[in-house]
Amino acid sequence: KNISIIGVPMDLGQTRRGVDMGPSAIRYAGVVERLEDLNYNIEDLGDIEIGSREKDTSPESNLKNLKAVAEASETLATKVDKVVRNGDFPLVLGGDHSIAIGTIAGLAKHYSNMGVIWYDAHGDLNTGETSPSGNIHGMPLAVSLGLGNPVLTSIGGYQNKIKPENIVIIGARSLDDGEKEVIKEKGIKVFTMHEIDRMGMATVMEEAISYLKEKGTDGVHLSLDLDGLDPHDAPGVGTPVLGGISYRESHLAMEMLEEANILTSAEFVEVNPILDERNKTATVAVALMGSLFGEKLL
Ligand code: ARG
Ligand code: MN
Ligand code: MN
Ligand code: MN
Repeated sequence: KNISIIGVPMDLGQTRRGVDMGPSAIRYAGVVERLEDLNYNIEDLGDIEIGSREKDTSPESNLKNLKAVAEASETLATKVDKVVRNGDFPLVLGGDHSIAIGTIAGLAKHYSNMGVIWYDAHGDLNTGETSPSGNIHGMPLAVSLGLGNPVLTSIGGYQNKIKPENIVIIGARSLDDGEKEVIKEKGIKVFTMHEIDRMGMATVMEEAISYLKEKGTDGVHLSLDLDGLDPHDAPGVGTPVLGGISYRESHLAMEMLEEANILTSAEFVEVNPILDERNKTATVAVALMGSLFGEKLL
């Protein structure tokens, strides 16, 4: 059992500084030791190189740092592709959520019917037209569906990495109008906070897992944005939204994914140690990884 860790110190997908230090914060919180204790061979491949912030948005689009994000995404896609080809489990550490563009571009080369669990307060389904901010971290799920700027949708040399019916969003509570339209139009499965409150996390995860199994997915990627959790439990994020998933519910979700044995890759994003309280958010991320990879109380 081999896990390959890839750090992506990228903060160019949004405007708050500090999320580039996410991979360091997660390593400091002991990710390697935590997973080694679960009898995995861990290979930390270090951090990929990220370009610098662009002074001006290009005149053709409102996407901030488009070139630098695209370059980093290509680099990451190549790295992830290599890890999967080696037969290892890619564990990607962010960085803002724009990194999912590269992660998914690398993964989807190996899966023709990949499932994606998007654990997030947000849908990240914006395009340049619908984005209120021009921040690319609000766009990676749309990009992976082939929607938005071609510079991004063509990363990895191909389009349409995933199918809308193979996506499950969990924890949504802040969706822009354009995102709601995409969800309805494409029929994306969403468990908002309302469903989590009403049904409980156990039922939500049971339904999410059987939904992805019914689709006949040949791999499942977990893209976990720490802002999916409530800001009380994960304060070190750039776009916190009140009323989120609790620490305990999140552990349960990870444990149920582990029991289901369907995951083939994972990424943990949006950890910002500058906005954090004593590295709490990175520590939570590592604790969740523990459950995801089979830590048991007894
Ligand atoms: N929907 C907002 C936007 O497009 C916020 C996105 C937040 N995304 C994230 N990965 N934290 O700007
Ligand atoms: Mn040890
Ligand atoms: Mn988010
Ligand atoms: Mn996100």
